Amino acid sequence: MSVSDKSEIDWPALLEVAIRAREASYSPYSNYLVGAALLTGKNEIYTGCNIENAGYSGTVCAERVAIFKAISVGEYDFRAMAVVTIDGAFPCGVCRQVIREFVTDLPILIGDTNRQYSIYGFKELLPYGFGPENLKNL
Ligand code: THU
Repeated sequence: MSVSDKSEIDWPALLEVAIRAREASYSPYSNYLVGAALLTGKNEIYTGCNIENAGYSGTVCAERVAIFKAISVGEYDFRAMAVVTIDGAFPCGVCRQVIREFVTDLPILIGDTNRQYSIYGFKELLPYGFGPENLKNL
C-alpha cells in the first residue's frame, strides 16, 4: 500500500491497539513505555512493546518486537504502523533501518498517550535509506 492510500486505514483504532500494547512494556530501567501496532494486508495487527534487559544491550524496541513477530510467522505484507509513547517520540534509528529491510514506503502514525498523533510516510523518517536492493547484483 502506498502512503496515498493511508486514508483507508482506521488510524484511531490502530492507535488504541498501540496504546494497549504499550501497557505490556517491560521497561524497569528507563520507565519509558513504548507501544507499537503493525497492520498487515490481511488486516491483522501484530503488537509490540519495548522489552528491556539488565544487560542494557539486550533491550529491544517496541517497533522491532512487532515486526519480528510478523516476520517470524511469515507475514511480510505491511500496510501501516502506529507507535505510541508518552511524548510522541519518533522511532529510533535502528528501528527505522529494520523497517527499511521490509518496506520502501509505509504510513506510520506517531502518537502520544493523550491520543495526539500525526502520520508520516516512512521515507520522511528515513530518506535515502540503505536496503536489500543495494546488495543485489554484486
Ligand atoms: N524505545 C523503543 O521501544 N522504541 C524506540 O524507537 C525508541 C526507544 C525504547 C527502548 C528503551 O526500552 C526505552 O525506549 C528507552 O530508550
